[in-house]
Amino acid sequence: MLLMFHSLLAFALLALLIASIVKSLLSAQNNKPFLETDRKVALFTLIAAHTQLLLGFLVYFTSTYFDMLKDDAKAVMADKALRLLAVEHPFTNILAVVMITIGFAAHKKLTEDKAKFMKIATFYGLGLILLLSRIPWNQWMAG
Ligand code: HEM
Repeated sequence: MLLMFHSLLAFALLALLIASIVKSLLSAQNNKPFLETDRKVALFTLIAAHTQLLLGFLVYFTSTYFDMLKDDAKAVMADKALRLLAVEHPFTNILAVVMITIGFAAHKKLTEDKAKFMKIATFYGLGLILLLSRIPWNQWMAG
């Protein structure tokens, strides 16, 4: 059940990230003003990222990954698939959410509209790359 939500929200988060990044880049390029809608899209993306992080922790600690890691870290690290889910996916995605949070917090401090768009595009972009790099694709696409 938790994993199902985690899997569904992953689609929403990736879509929101892409929308935020594309919109920010286009608006920066065309010298558009930073509107309330732009702030809202960035904010919803941030909220989706934080919710996904929380869900990820719930999935993680209700699964056996953490116990396996405590019991025999060497064996987990030696197994590529296990290492991805027990270590790489959680750590990389925490870092990705930190990037997204920094981007949102930093855009608020800026006054120039183009700089706001570029701050969001850069940090949300970094977050997206990190997320995409450590998604368990085989498993996710297998349903
Ligand atoms: C915040 C961005 C995150 C995204 C976009 C994301 C995305 C995904 C996706 C797409 C899957 C595959 C779901 C499936 O097989 O149906 C997955 C699985 C998983 N995620 Fe995340 N995740 C995120 C964060 C986290 C965090 C922070 C943790 C742990 C602290 C975590 C723990 C897990 C675990 C343990 C699984 C595998 C569960 C299993 O198959 O037994 N995720 N995640």
